[in-house]
Amino acid sequence: MEINKVMIIGAGQMGSGIAQVCAQSGYDVLLHDMNEEALDKGMKNIEKRLNRNVEKERMTASEKTETLHRLTASGSLSDASSCDIVIEAIVENMDVKTKVFADLDKFAPAHAILASNTSSLPITEIAAATNRPSQVIGMHFMNPVPVMKLVEIIRGLQSSDETYQAIENMAKSLNKTPVEVKDFPGFVSNRVLMPMINEAIYTVYEGVASPEDIDTVMKLGTNHPMGPLTLADFIGLDTCLYIMEVLHEGFGDSKYRPCPLLRQYVKAGWLGKKSGRGFYQYN
Ligand code: CAA
Ligand code: NAD
Repeated sequence: MEINKVMIIGAGQMGSGIAQVCAQSGYDVLLHDMNEEALDKGMKNIEKRLNRNVEKERMTASEKTETLHRLTASGSLSDASSCDIVIEAIVENMDVKTKVFADLDKFAPAHAILASNTSSLPITEIAAATNRPSQVIGMHFMNPVPVMKLVEIIRGLQSSDETYQAIENMAKSLNKTPVEVKDFPGFVSNRVLMPMINEAIYTVYEGVASPEDIDTVMKLGTNHPMGPLTLADFIGLDTCLYIMEVLHEGFGDSKYRPCPLLRQYVKAGWLGKKSGRGFYQYN
């Protein structure tokens, strides 16, 4: 299947990164967000990162202009009608995602693939909200998208081989390394990463050490590029909590219970870097 035109739903940190790498790789891209301000911010962030690439001589000024020409802000989900694939990167919530997939199923052409960048939610359940479950699949990029090489590809129960192959080819065309993963809660990346982050939060909660010291231990002691609490702030504490809840509910095992401190911070609106405060404060 040939993919030329891509629509990305959600212009937050993941959606704007996915839109950027798709446009850089020659795809025509529509970027949509239900929040106009978020869409504007997402478009501006892409331009900033492209300017940085020109400054650093990773791309020429004319490549930047061509990339921006391939990228259009979209005010309506119905624009999916002109696309070969839609990649959804909105909030990590099953009810919200299934509503968007049911709408996309109405608007997107019959041949189009509907992919989700979900961190942990079952692809099979998202697919069941559509009348094309064989064309629904997980395409899980890592944050920050322009830098990280991995794409986890998650097959739902009914995802077809043709859909899988199209997504694998597309991931490679974006200069990413695809890995096939079964549809289990948290897939591989977050089943392994998120319990570590949750445990680091328990370590703060129990007063074992300060956030700075916990991050220093993991950075200098285990060579992680970011400590787990800096990484949690970077991912978004709301997203971390949603993922822990999916693991807890999905496996029914108390070892995945989210730390009460994580819940409290999210309730306070401390969502990490994107809200200006999490385990650390940001300008
Ligand atoms: N967007 C785009 N590019 C970014 C970026 C961002 N948010 N942040 C950093 N970069 C790029 C910049 O281009 C920068 O290079 P230049 O300065 O030459 O432009 C380069 O990364 C290095 O950045 P820094 O020197 O500022 O900082 P660093 O050396 O610490 O690297 C990092 C930044 C790549 C993010 C590194 O700290 C890292 O790898 N951290 C861990 C990231 C990680 O684990 N990601 C996975 C999260 S889990 C996930 O994504 C799955 C999920 O479902 C939750
Ligand atoms: P974010 O909060 O930065 O952005 C989400 C965007 O989606 C917001 O701009 C919001 O306005 C928009 N949105 C919400 N509901 C919408 C709807 N119904 N229609 C259109 N737009 C809508 O979140 P993010 O960090 O970019 O995460 C997005 C998705 O990617 C989540 O499923 C998350 O689990 C996944 N993910 C996140 C990371 C990470 O490190 N943050 C990594 C991989 C995957």
